[in-house]
Amino acid sequence: MQGILEELKVDGRNLSTAKGTPYYWQGDANSIVFEENAIRSVLMDFNSLVMAVALENRIGLTARGNISTSPASGAIPLMGWAIPVSPQTLGNASFCATYGTRYAYYGGAMANGISSAELVIALGKAGFMGSFGSAGLVPARIEAAIQTVQQALPDSPYAFNLINSPNEPALEHRAAALYLSHGIRNVEASAYVDLTVPLVLYRAAGLSMDTVGNIVINNRIIAKVSRKEVARRFLEPAPVDILDELVKENKISELQARLAQQVPVADDITVEADSGGHTDNRPLVGLLPTMLALRDEIQAKYHYPVPVRIGAAGGISTPTSALAAFVMGADYIVTGSVNQACVESGATDHTRALLAQADMADVIMAPAADMFEMGVKVQLLKRGTLFPLRAQKLYELYTRYSSIDEIPAAEREKQERQVFKRDFGSIWEDVIKFFSERDPRQIERAERDPKQKMALIFRWYLGLSSRWAVIGEKGREMDYQIWCGPSMGTFNDWTRPTYLNDPGSRHVVDVALHLLSGAAYLYRLRMLTMQGIRVPASLDAYLPTAPLI
Ligand SMILES: Cc1cc2nc3c(=O)[nH]c(=O)nc-3n(C[C@H](O)[C@H](O)[C@H](O)COP(=O)(O)O)c2cc1C
Repeated sequence: MQGILEELKVDGRNLSTAKGTPYYWQGDANSIVFEENAIRSVLMDFNSLVMAVALENRIGLTARGNISTSPASGAIPLMGWAIPVSPQTLGNASFCATYGTRYAYYGGAMANGISSAELVIALGKAGFMGSFGSAGLVPARIEAAIQTVQQALPDSPYAFNLINSPNEPALEHRAAALYLSHGIRNVEASAYVDLTVPLVLYRAAGLSMDTVGNIVINNRIIAKVSRKEVARRFLEPAPVDILDELVKENKISELQARLAQQVPVADDITVEADSGGHTDNRPLVGLLPTMLALRDEIQAKYHYPVPVRIGAAGGISTPTSALAAFVMGADYIVTGSVNQACVESGATDHTRALLAQADMADVIMAPAADMFEMGVKVQLLKRGTLFPLRAQKLYELYTRYSSIDEIPAAEREKQERQVFKRDFGSIWEDVIKFFSERDPRQIERAERDPKQKMALIFRWYLGLSSRWAVIGEKGREMDYQIWCGPSMGTFNDWTRPTYLNDPGSRHVVDVALHLLSGAAYLYRLRMLTMQGIRVPASLDAYLPTAPLI
């Protein structure tokens, strides 16, 4: 029988680079498998120790028998082994213990309820964690989602997103107040450049001391960051000036302010590399080690009883990328783009179909609605929509002119006709209505500053285009703003030959289980290949053949 792993000798030449181990294997030779499917099954039996043994010039695998140090009779050379690694053992067990998950994995927030209550509930019930996409939603919708999720997951993990909104600080205040009043215990904090009062309040208000003097952290923060200077703020204790202000306003006790100076602002830092949505487009291979080193530096200074964990996000959508993140030292991993493509997301079928066709290069950076004036960009799907080009044009007009009236008449009319499909006067009336409910100070400021008025009018289009995509607004298909990272394309490439190629078959828990199962399989395979045991390309891949749920 021909073995599928590299033969030891062909024509007397040793082709395998496997040097072997100083050990021997003893056991039933019938348990040794050489054929591809059997080898795959042995490696997929994640809890077994797999031994590679040399028998009659072939290498085969077995999970039975014993390892011995001496070549007793019947013992054969042990060429290598793969230790038990399963989807549950990847990552840091303390992440699972803290959040009550089975896996070191969570689904990142996706604004406008794209990471919907349904998605968060599905992940939570299966031992993962999902972060509800509160950004862009009015408090009443966030509150409704809180009620739905809390009812469905009384004892299972979930998180809610607290997004920094420097342009509309009232939104962040209200979201933090809702989380405090509804006992939301896990918050994913994102888009922060500096720490804010609502964020520090959420953290400090959840601190207490147990009867033996240990600090109890009731309000956990997972901070999503892509820059070292921002990570540092979350790794250190909260700033004293903000804590003092909160004590003065009777929002936290003096004890809580003192405790807050002994714990980091965040329990976890999710390092966001090149991802969908807000991103600095940094490569994970560079960013993650940098942040791990920063964490170690700050831990050495503060000696927190539980060091801040570091997770990886951005670009993770295949077993290989998931494994790479864990092997680089990520305590947990986070996905986003692939979850939007799943049936539980708040996206429409139209969006899911576009996402399913995306290639890795079909994404582009375009101006962000929430931080438009600051020139912040988000990563979007470029294929099948004109939004990125139109938004970029609006940003150019904003930087070149100081008011709507200063834009040349022909250009203004073109924008009104093609992009806004309304005149700017009536758009401004809508903007006034919108902000009178959310944050009237925005209008007051814009009435004083014509450039700001232009920004709000342009943000009408940028803000609505993502809503149009979510609600499937007819006639606005070419204006859909669909946040998406290059990981979507790599996911499509990986799943093309499988049932997951069909957008209707993509379920958020199934995708997560396949990513982790594939990562565990590949890890075990890598252990063998790194011991010099060569494998054919057909074994060097994990393909989802059937749903795992
Ligand atoms: C459609 C979409 C919307 C997103 N909205 C948010 C958001 O509101 N808040 C946030 O913290 N992250 C947001 N993200 C980022 C994700 O939570 C996650 O960190 C990121 O997508 C991971 O990278 P990936 O897209 O390569 O998987 C969004 C991502 C996508 C794809």
